Amino acid sequence: MLVSPSIISSDLRVLQNQIEECERHGAASFHLDVMDGHFVPNLTMGPDIVKAVRKSTELPLEVHLMIDRPDRYYTKFAESGSDILLIHYESPVNLRGLFNNMKNEGLKYGLVINPGTEFREVSDLLDGTEILLIMSVHPGFSGQKFIDVTDKISEASAFIKDNGLGTKIEVDGGINLETGKKSAKAGADILVSASYIFSGTIKERIGSLKRLTR
Ligand code: DX5
Ligand code: ZN
Repeated sequence: MLVSPSIISSDLRVLQNQIEECERHGAASFHLDVMDGHFVPNLTMGPDIVKAVRKSTELPLEVHLMIDRPDRYYTKFAESGSDILLIHYESPVNLRGLFNNMKNEGLKYGLVINPGTEFREVSDLLDGTEILLIMSVHPGFSGQKFIDVTDKISEASAFIKDNGLGTKIEVDGGINLETGKKSAKAGADILVSASYIFSGTIKERIGSLKRLTR
């Protein structure tokens, strides 16, 4: 399993050490949760933090944009060193237009769906999409309880296989060893985790998630 630690729960006083530790113990990428206080009722980080993280690691950075107008800000995040921009289906923007622009600019993107969004609503957007991020909490806060989206993961996994797509399935929210295992069995490729990884020994926590298999 690929593991993407979300730095939102890391000790920000020593962010570089935390990043290095995650890297040493097998993180596949880093997940950065950007919240604007509108799209979700919380505020977190902006492009300058992405720039700082970019200087601390060569692993891919995925930037999860929980903001009202990703179309206005994605360029700033791309310039700050993001490798893949994760865009919510629920954002009030023309997604096809946005994805076309990103493609033309050579940017990689993923599509994010909230727990209330059905997979069939987004299946025709997957072609050309690197990642389908299935939220297993209502976005806004780390440390929430996993909402069972395993049927949605299985449905997406079967669709991707049947249609020969290269989209990876990522799951975000309430991931720990038990919910990570369920998600992996259902077909997840990548697990995002914030509070589980950073509230314990990073080596053990990343290691245990990494060893999960489908
Ligand atoms: C939720 C964020 C998640 C979250 C994960 O809005 O997108 O990435 O911080 O936190 P945990 O792993 O603690 O649920
Ligand atoms: Zn996230």
